[in-house]
Parts: sequence; structure tokens; C-alpha cells
Amino acid sequence: MIARVHIDVLVDDIPAVEGVLPLHGLSILLSLEYEGGVTKKILFDTGPYSSVLLKNSETLGVELEPDIIFGSLHHFHHIGALRNSFPTTPRVLPPPPVARAGRPMSQLQGLSDVYVLVGDSYWNEQGLALKTPKGWLVVVGCSVHGLKRTFGARLLGLGRVWGLIGGLNISTRDVFNLAFVRRLAQRGLKLALPLHSTSMEARKTILERFNSYDFGYEVSGCGVQADIEF
Ligand SMILES: [Fe+2]
Repeated sequence: MIARVHIDVLVDDIPAVEGVLPLHGLSILLSLEYEGGVTKKILFDTGPYSSVLLKNSETLGVELEPDIIFGSLHHFHHIGALRNSFPTTPRVLPPPPVARAGRPMSQLQGLSDVYVLVGDSYWNEQGLALKTPKGWLVVVGCSVHGLKRTFGARLLGLGRVWGLIGGLNISTRDVFNLAFVRRLAQRGLKLALPLHSTSMEARKTILERFNSYDFGYEVSGCGVQADIEF
């Protein structure tokens, strides 16, 4: 059982702290601590450039030695840094776009309570669903067709989504997708950390209305470092 997740947001469109380089893209280091003390590190996306990923990691004091790299979307701004970094690290990438894979939810290689959540779009976007004592903690990269269209059916099918982290693809006045986040909140969503593909105003709205987890940052973005306890 996962007892704790530490997150380091290493690449994102908007900075949450001084000193990091903001850039259109996403990379989050997920450090999973299991009961018994075993820790596994998943690098969720890499952002477009390894130079920015490494620089921000250095600025934030993050040791970037993941056990596995998970790519959410076959697009430069999500996995571009893989071109010239982490050549020997195991990686799980989505199938190429257009050819619909129709995959069921499956366990991520060798990791207990970590599942690949397949989006519904011809991009074959995929996210992660972590089974925790409080409910599902879901991490998504881009929500390329908007959160509801891309992952909505999958999220509702999970049951209680306790936490939602990542690119939600919601603009300031996107009442359609904001209403979907409200629906998740009515079903038990307590932690919401909007990143990437989510506008500044939409991030603030989501944090104010739907997040009750104290991250300690004015806005969610590059540089957020937090321990999530279960
Ligand atoms: Fe994206």
C-alpha cells in the first residue's frame, strides 16, 4: 500500500517559486513510499528539453534518478527530453497517435497500486492512477481534448478520485470542464493541483473552489514540492 507520495514539479508553464525556468510542457517527479519503507521514483513526463529539466532539478535540489519514466503524450513538450537523456532508464510511453489502442487499465511495470489510465482520444494519451487509502490519486499530463473528453469516463469509472494532479487543459472560462471538476469534488475530490495546459486564472479558481490540501503555494506551477500523506 502506498503510504506517501512526494511530488516535485520540475517543468511547467507557470512558475510557483522564484528561480525556476518556466516552459510550456510538464515534468513531475513522483516519489512513492510504500508501507515498509520501499521507495520508487517515477518521472512523469520530461518536458521538451533536458537542459531545462536538469537546471530546474538542480535549482530545486532534486536528485533526478528515476526508477522509471512514464510518458503521457506523444508530443515534444511532454517527452522531448528523452531524445538525449535517460538512455538506460526503463520507460513506458503511449502508443503513437491516431491508431486507437483501446487498452484497458493496467498495472504499471512492477509497481504495486500504480495503474496506467488510458485516455479516450486518438492521441492515445495516458495518465497514472495511484491506489491510496484515501481513494485514487490521478496524475494526468495534458488532457489534450480537455479533461472531461479525454479522461472523464475513466475518472468516473474509478469511483472516488481523491486527488487530481497535472495538465487539465482548462481555460479561464471553460465552464464545461470546470463543471466536470465540480462533479469530481461532489464525488470526493479533495486534492487538486492544476498544472500545464491550465490557465493561470483557471488554476486559481480550481485551487480556491476544489482543493482543500494545503500545498503552501499561492499558485500551482513549476517548483511545487509537497508531501502527500495518506
Ligand atoms: Fe501538453
